[in-house]
Amino acid sequence: MTSGAPVARALLPRSAVIDERGRLLIDGCDVDQLARTFGTPLYVYSETELRARCREYRDAFGVDAVSYAGKAFLCVEMARLVAEEGMHLDVATGGELHVALRAGFPAARVVFHGNNKSDDELRGALEAGVGRIVADSFDELDRIEALVGDGARAPRVLIRVTPGVEAHTHEYIATGADDSKFGFTVANGTAREAAVRVAKSDAMTFVGFHCHIGSQILVLESFARAAAVVTELAGEVARDTGAPIDEINLGGGLGVPYTADELDAPTIAEFGREVRANFTDACATFGLDPLPALTVEAGRSIAGPAGITLYTVGTIKEIPGVRTYVAVDGGMSDNPRPATYGAEYEAAIPARIGARRPLVATVAGKHCEQGDLLVRDAHLPADVAVGDVLITPVTGAYGYSMASNYNLVPRPAVVFVRDGEPRVVVRRETLDDLVARDRLESEGD
Ligand code: LLP
Repeated sequence: MTSGAPVARALLPRSAVIDERGRLLIDGCDVDQLARTFGTPLYVYSETELRARCREYRDAFGVDAVSYAGKAFLCVEMARLVAEEGMHLDVATGGELHVALRAGFPAARVVFHGNNKSDDELRGALEAGVGRIVADSFDELDRIEALVGDGARAPRVLIRVTPGVEAHTHEYIATGADDSKFGFTVANGTAREAAVRVAKSDAMTFVGFHCHIGSQILVLESFARAAAVVTELAGEVARDTGAPIDEINLGGGLGVPYTADELDAPTIAEFGREVRANFTDACATFGLDPLPALTVEAGRSIAGPAGITLYTVGTIKEIPGVRTYVAVDGGMSDNPRPATYGAEYEAAIPARIGARRPLVATVAGKHCEQGDLLVRDAHLPADVAVGDVLITPVTGAYGYSMASNYNLVPRPAVVFVRDGEPRVVVRRETLDDLVARDRLESEGD
């Protein structure tokens, strides 16, 4: 991080503007003012950034080739936006599917994931008519066959495989290695066995293969290695069974820059060029003709850079010779990523967004845990003060979606901004929401 410099523009949504008073505007909305209007903590998304990223993906991979991975950030309005942008949607649970269907998302464009889908989830997905099921285990294949035996419609199925590729990322979010709870292992032959079984089954239509090697991947070569393993397998299965391979889904995982140190991360366009080229080469090498459709499913690289989180500074504690803590009104309940993965962010003050940030201080949350630190050694303006609105950029992915009620802190509202207009798409939780599911009367009442 460049010591003392203002926050890099590239970490803000591209609609970011610094007005003549030095205040940050996003999609024409004054960010500090949004905090005063809607309260903090607050998740704010630039709608133009969300839509631009969907379009970059469609341009990079083709129409119908990209799913948005709802696990990164999903609510009804986001599902609608994804539908409007003509994308497909990856859901990982019955809950995500429910939100998508409530938003009117077309079921035929839903891809249903999960390493342990329940009977109810599978039944719901088949009844809704989801476009593709990504099968993860032999138990799941048994369940699908039983449901179809009971009258459900036969689904289109992709086989999820673990290609034995180590992605360069945190081990908790790396999923492509052999030691993974996900999918069928390529190396020991179970992936091939599963594919042959689906290709021969009357209860399923075999579509192809899926793999996802991890998330926040900044080294594109990891995808090329996965593509090689999966296309080799697909070539073998096509030859053995005569089944066409319609689709190979290489998952998601493109990383995004969170700090000024990471600004050389690959762009969506570069990701598309590199992955498509490698995929085409691998298909030729392994005799896959006709070429299967290459699909991907992106979460973080669509939602992450479009979102910022707004907090209010509540206390400042200076421990001379040790460190300064700037405590805000949220923390690990609205962004668990620093505590969970050691994720790094930057912090800035939107009312003085162009100001230099010579003060090194740690932005802490309000939870009862010392580990509840949002940004260790953040750079902040020297005059940061109680009452300032503070933002953490690039918090649009896996913040809201992983938020909790730890310490019974109500979860923040979500606001979309566009053309100078903010709109609340998810309201703030209330204190009453916190007891909405409790039994309130005492026994015997
Ligand atoms: N497809 C599958 C099958 C996935 O498991 C994931 C993410 C994605 C697509 C989307 O990956 P993305 O494009 O967002 O990298 N909570 C962690 C990330 C977990 C990722 C889980 N799977 C974090 O906050 O870093």
